[in-house]
Amino acid sequence: MCGIFAVSGDSSKAGSSVLKGLKKLEYRGYDSWGVCVREQESGTIFIEKEVGKISTVKRDFPAGREAIGHSRWATHGGVTRTNAHPHKVGRVTLVHNGIFENYLDEKKKLSAYAFASETDTEVIAALIDSFLAQDIEPLQALQRAACCIKGRFAILVMIEGREGIFAARRGSPLIIGRGATQTFIASDVPAFLEQTNVVNYLDDDEMVHVVGNKAHFFHLETGTPIEKRNISVPWKVEDAEKGDWPHFMIKEIFDQKKTIQKAIDHEDRKLQQAAKLLENSNGAYFVACGTAHKVAMAAEYFFADIVGRKINVVPASEMPSFERFVNPKTVIIAVSQSGETADVLEILERGKKKGAKILALTNVVSSSMARLADVHLPINAGPEKAVASTKAATAQMALLFLLAYTEIGQANVGRQILRSTASSINDMLNPRYENYIRSVAERISQQPNLFIIGRKSLYPMALESAIKIQEVSYINAQGFAAGELKHGPIALIEKNTPCLVLGDDPETLSNAIELKSRGASLIGVSPTRHDVFQEWLRVPDCNGAQAIASIIPVQILAYHLALLRGLDPDMPRNLAKSVTVK
Ligand code: AGP
Ligand code: GLU
Repeated sequence: MCGIFAVSGDSSKAGSSVLKGLKKLEYRGYDSWGVCVREQESGTIFIEKEVGKISTVKRDFPAGREAIGHSRWATHGGVTRTNAHPHKVGRVTLVHNGIFENYLDEKKKLSAYAFASETDTEVIAALIDSFLAQDIEPLQALQRAACCIKGRFAILVMIEGREGIFAARRGSPLIIGRGATQTFIASDVPAFLEQTNVVNYLDDDEMVHVVGNKAHFFHLETGTPIEKRNISVPWKVEDAEKGDWPHFMIKEIFDQKKTIQKAIDHEDRKLQQAAKLLENSNGAYFVACGTAHKVAMAAEYFFADIVGRKINVVPASEMPSFERFVNPKTVIIAVSQSGETADVLEILERGKKKGAKILALTNVVSSSMARLADVHLPINAGPEKAVASTKAATAQMALLFLLAYTEIGQANVGRQILRSTASSINDMLNPRYENYIRSVAERISQQPNLFIIGRKSLYPMALESAIKIQEVSYINAQGFAAGELKHGPIALIEKNTPCLVLGDDPETLSNAIELKSRGASLIGVSPTRHDVFQEWLRVPDCNGAQAIASIIPVQILAYHLALLRGLDPDMPRNLAKSVTVK
């Protein structure tokens, strides 16, 4: 889950550069941090690590041209200074993103080492050191260590007495940034975007040795050298910055003024390829997690309504029960902002082995899913850094809505509906609208429970509303299919329990009346106002694409609930942006 970052080149301030870059990756994990610098004069390895968020840290580091660092989301071993990375064992200092599944077995074999931490990571450092101690060269030592590891990893390694930084990956992302005088290795591009947008992608089972500003690439299994292409990433520095906004979450909510339009300004050729893949398939599965899973559920309704086709939607973690139905005729559609979510990746890897075709919608074009897919549709939302997914979700929905229309040969009709949706959302998102929603948040911010109902594609949006509110405000929010209320959940309603009603079709309105009769205080999210609503958040009428517009006021509500409860919406407790571990 964590963010890892290395800097090498002609500046002796590599330590400060790593600290700065790590702050831009903090969204990936923020329970502790650490930086290691190879001191310029002596070559000594200097390590500084601490518990807490890296964002407020100010430090000076010894002069050095090579440094590596880590911002952690603990998986193995509690959040303590000792468990924070980097870990130093013998001559090896290492940071790691991922999980070393069989670390306890390997640890037993390394009985000569006294381990300081409870982490799986320290065992990787010991493994590499044990090979170096047998006079094995560093690159081979990395290869040998990789052979012992089951699980996913991206590692950055510094070795005492050996120049350069070594890095390797299997399953967790690593991108090499090629600056004019410095080279960077990072979990994600924003870490070095201020210096360069020229990158080399490290693929699974590859390693790199960066010396000064030069990078040498090798296969991790065979050790044979690899040539890499320089690629320019289309992101701008300001896309990955908060600018004048107080938080990434609200910036990204307002980015939706443009991102829905950008999602559908899509190469027709790619959409046609994706539609063909679906057309030729016999059995299709949407596989995704969290918000992306709710997006897929909304798309299930789009495909049913527009194409007349039922596509299965399965949360990635539940897909193993259905994998025996995957065969060469199956299409697995991965929906993922990061393109790195481990649960999804695993399903895709296994599906591919069984001959299934992979269609992936991701926001990160360099991501593992994008690279593994037969067809990749980028959602073009620009970097999303707040843990709570907002603009990526609406961009994914827009693209899937367009894909459904492409499949029936009416991409233009889909585009037209989405263009008008995007323009109404652009009008809707203004400070007055936000202020009104804040006033609603003020009234309900101290309530312990909040319920949300919706029907058809607004049912998944009720579930998504609950995720948004839970993760940033910690209120017990729950979403229900409007028609399911009277089969149980209505027992939870007490006097003044706030309930959001997504939509205003007659059936949902009658469910709303049922809620009101039991004392609920209703907040309508709909194109028209109705007497039953105590408060009303207006959304435009979007002709089939209603789910896209309806989630936006709830995102704003969740943001203000977090602020009113004194919480940092960008860094909710226990969570991290990309869940690259199982
Ligand atoms: C969204 O607000 C959540 N933080 C989370 O559910 C997220 O959508 C999920 O982890 C999937 O991530 P992905 O889209 O990067 O695969
Ligand atoms: N497994 C390692 C740890 O717990 C790395 C976790 C991560 O990828 O954030 O420290």
